Amino acid sequence: MKIAMIGTGYVGLVSGACFADFGHDVCCVDRDEAKIAGLEAGRMPIWEPGLEDLVESNVRRGRLTFTTDLARGVDGADAVFIAVGTPARRGDGHADLSYVFAAAAEIAGALTGPAVIVTKSTVPVGTGDAIAKILIDEGAPEGTLVASNPEFLREGAAIADFKHPDRIVVGAEDPRAEAVLREIYRPLFLNKAPILFTGRRTAELIKYAANAFLATKISFINEIADLCEKVGADVQEVSRGIGLDNRIGPKFLHAGPGYGGSCFPKDTLALLRTAEESGVPMRIVNTVVEVNDARKSGMGDRVREAVGGSLQGKKIAVLGLTFKPNTDDMRDAPSLALIDTLKKGGAEIAAFDPVGREQAEPLLPGISFADDSYAAAAGADALVIVTEWDEFRALDLRRIAGAMRGTALVDLRNIYGEDEVVRAGLSYRGIGRAVTS
Ligand code: UDX
Repeated sequence: MKIAMIGTGYVGLVSGACFADFGHDVCCVDRDEAKIAGLEAGRMPIWEPGLEDLVESNVRRGRLTFTTDLARGVDGADAVFIAVGTPARRGDGHADLSYVFAAAAEIAGALTGPAVIVTKSTVPVGTGDAIAKILIDEGAPEGTLVASNPEFLREGAAIADFKHPDRIVVGAEDPRAEAVLREIYRPLFLNKAPILFTGRRTAELIKYAANAFLATKISFINEIADLCEKVGADVQEVSRGIGLDNRIGPKFLHAGPGYGGSCFPKDTLALLRTAEESGVPMRIVNTVVEVNDARKSGMGDRVREAVGGSLQGKKIAVLGLTFKPNTDDMRDAPSLALIDTLKKGGAEIAAFDPVGREQAEPLLPGISFADDSYAAAAGADALVIVTEWDEFRALDLRRIAGAMRGTALVDLRNIYGEDEVVRAGLSYRGIGRAVTS
């Protein structure tokens, strides 16, 4: 199959490289000349494990090309995927579809024959219909079809998720569009990944419902964690105890500092807007968003308590800035709200992140960046683990204790047990565990 991928962000680039790896002929298109020039030279615009090798090997085999020229990219394509950004619109939080619609109009003008236009970007229900209308208005060739194929990959595990999905969702109104997508995904289909064919609107909604449900699981367990702290229970054991029930499942039940990232915050807001416009207010999702916002801004108070009630003049070491490990993505990262509270309280901050520094620096003025965990800990009153990077799981706690001037370890990801921390001479405060020290 010949595929054009419009947009080389997270989803577009990973999907394009993986489709090429399946053996398809893929051209990735982006307006950003520097990005395309970088990709042609083998430089990745994002930090994602395994991506550079995957891109390099498929470029070498001639199956993956890059261009800023959309007309060249879509020429002769069987399918054109739209994977441009759909950020939250300032003001009302709805998804900003201007990039999607602009891409659709440009594709319509550039197509030389009928193709299936597939939205991979997360788009509100009804966007496929709007794209179909744009294609007609802008004179796309007769027989051009529109399908929805939402992507569920997680950053940091993007390639594995793409190649081993729990399911593939295809929303199409025409058997020809279904057939093209079935052919594109055939390698996964043969691996027995379930393909779900639905109507276009249903596919669009599945993506939002999935993300809102996962966000709900996280906010739910975070509230249970708060209760655990008050009643002397352990949230990790509660998670395990409920997760062993097949109807609940063990995943997405890790209590922490609140969810962040490029999807959950914006997709929950967009779903709320769609629901409101449709006259079906979603009270559960609304509360999930409120709980998460309050949680992120409340994390600083835990640190305040751990250092004796005032942050004034305290030195705080922060380990992990990105919204989760194995990415350099800082979008809606819990570290941002935390550091804001710490700074407002008068604390001095030294932070370390294994790969996120470049992205983090412009967002976090007025703090210092250390080269490793021990340098961050030097002279600190408290050490706060915000993101569970693997390298933070095996810290030499005695060395950390020796470097600090205070003794507080605040573990917002529960990667340590109290005993080992106390043995090293530190006090411990985790999430959803009774505070004993
Ligand atoms: C998410 C969805 O998982 C993916 O299907 C969708 O397509 C895009 O959004 P991603 O944002 O890459 O993927 O990260 P994910 O691993 O889902 O984590 C999102 C946030 O939730 C992170 O801040 C993470 O720390 C937090 N989280 C996740 C928890 O706090 N607890 C959990 O149990 C799981």
